[in-house]
Amino acid sequence: MSQWIWMNGELVAYEDAKVHVLTHALHYGTGVFEGVRAYENPQGQPAIFRHADHIDRLFQSAGLYHMEIPFSKEEIRAATHETITRNGLKSCYIRPLVFRGAGPMGLNPLDAPVEVAIAAWPWGAYLGDGALEKGVRAKVSSWRRISSDSLIPHAKASGQYLNSVLAKIESVRAGYEEAILLDAQGFVSEGTGENLFVVLDGVIYTPPQTAGILDGINRDAVMRIARDEGFEIVERNLARAELTLADELFMTGTAAELTPIREIDDHVVGDGVRGPITTRLQQVFLDALHGRDPRYTEWNDVVSVESPKAAA
Ligand SMILES: Cc1ncc(COP(=O)(O)O)c(C=O)c1O
Repeated sequence: MSQWIWMNGELVAYEDAKVHVLTHALHYGTGVFEGVRAYENPQGQPAIFRHADHIDRLFQSAGLYHMEIPFSKEEIRAATHETITRNGLKSCYIRPLVFRGAGPMGLNPLDAPVEVAIAAWPWGAYLGDGALEKGVRAKVSSWRRISSDSLIPHAKASGQYLNSVLAKIESVRAGYEEAILLDAQGFVSEGTGENLFVVLDGVIYTPPQTAGILDGINRDAVMRIARDEGFEIVERNLARAELTLADELFMTGTAAELTPIREIDDHVVGDGVRGPITTRLQQVFLDALHGRDPRYTEWNDVVSVESPKAAA
């Protein structure tokens, strides 16, 4: 963990970044958050991937749950830069969290304060060492993805993640690295923290916005890259069997980056290794994340790190 965490306008020491036990979000899940990553670019600077898009989604999620963030988008961006710089980080995972703090108890959250924290720490491959190269084993969950008639799949809200937690526990206990959830209609939705892509006969498919997905920022990046690379990419509902019949399967997400799936429900996907389309997209995507592809450098929000000399 890192030494400094930004809380409500200032950096505090890791051990002092505390909340009251009557924090509303702790009881009712009334928080929204983001998962963001920064990568060291070829110039040796940390650069935050699609930072503006993550901040926009944080504000959208907050708005959907009637929370007014007491900082501007520019202040959140600056606070994130400060957190990275003060912790001396280059490549890191960043977790902004907006939550209802301690206030009146009960389900009406409107009088509880809205608090903001931003933490950052080094975090390697989310789905385990070698996952990006070898791929992971996944299982379709018995839990369905939350649907838009009872919660808000488009919001990245803390309480909603109980759905992902149940699916994750089930898959890990059964010996798999990840779960794939179907939506309420039985179409393929997404992973517990990743969007899903299916390659069939050279065409790349991904579930549409209406399949209960979180509108992933890396999903969007990979769709743009796939089109730039000349692939056909189609958003449509996918049947469970199409996962088994796929030539290649992969997932995208800030934590998982672009991870191939080599087995689904104990069926080997394609040849059981990272397929050629996955390999190509992953290569360009990793270059984009690290600021190595000039076509996508507008996606990298460079954090200017003052040298200790200049700062002194
Ligand atoms: C449920 C869920 N789906 C998809 C994603 C992928 O979204 P993104 O690419 O913006 O990280 C995430 C991660 O944020 C997630 O938690």
